[in-house]
Amino acid sequence: MLIEKENMPLVAMDFMNETHTEDLDIINELFELVLAYEDSPTLENKKRVDNLYSKWFAHTIEHFRAEEIMMEEKKFPPYPMHKGEHENALRVMDEVFRQWQAEQDINILKNYMSEHLVPWLINHINTMDTVTARFFQSGVSPCAIH
Ligand SMILES: [Fe+2]
Ligand SMILES: [Fe+2]
Repeated sequence: MLIEKENMPLVAMDFMNETHTEDLDIINELFELVLAYEDSPTLENKKRVDNLYSKWFAHTIEHFRAEEIMMEEKKFPPYPMHKGEHENALRVMDEVFRQWQAEQDINILKNYMSEHLVPWLINHINTMDTVTARFFQSGVSPCAIH
């Protein structure tokens, strides 16, 4: 398992925790498929990886969009900063997938997921999502000066 559930930080909004749990499940399943392809690089195993990666990408777009819609509704002041991290992450996910398609080297996915994605996700939830969820819950801006 790439990420244990107990290592996923919980935030103050249930809808976000639910999405993060789904995200974790997809990531763990995808990593298993990546390892299966590494063991046995068949076309069938590649298709499994590609299909789940696409599903994960679509899920991530919705995950980020739901947070962004609520940030806009609630007028969260650091919205552009949080949205910027989302856009960056989606760009990297897309670039990594394209590189994997071009080079067919499973280490591209394996290294990205274990070395880049996991620390990014935990850090993002611990910082941006935590502060944002607290704001949704309390209505108090982390940038409030009074
Ligand atoms: Fe999130
Ligand atoms: Fe987020």
